[in-house]
Amino acid sequence: MQRKRYKVLECGALLAGQLAYADVEGLPVALANVDGVLYAFGDACRHEGGPLSEGVLIDDTVTCPWHGWTYSVRTGKSIVPPIGLRVPIYPVFLEDDGVYIEVDWDDAP
Ligand code: FES
Repeated sequence: MQRKRYKVLECGALLAGQLAYADVEGLPVALANVDGVLYAFGDACRHEGGPLSEGVLIDDTVTCPWHGWTYSVRTGKSIVPPIGLRVPIYPVFLEDDGVYIEVDWDDAP
């Protein structure tokens, strides 16, 4: 297993209700702030690869800007048909100097 930690944001850079994008060694990652809790998940929509970080975040649901598929930012699961498809999710860590995520490259898409 090759798990690595990457800094993706400065502390406080992502306000509640906002989305952000991070390129992690070529891996597209979306970040969401839901009521002060940060989540990280794959930026590419399972439909045609739309950028979820450019979508709309309402509560813990992100809606793809291209055709409206929706996902839980907590679980990565799609929540309207086709239900059950997933985008990957990544653990988030708050450290003194910023926000980090961990990517297990054995599992990365
Ligand atoms: S690419 Fe996301 S809904 Fe079509």
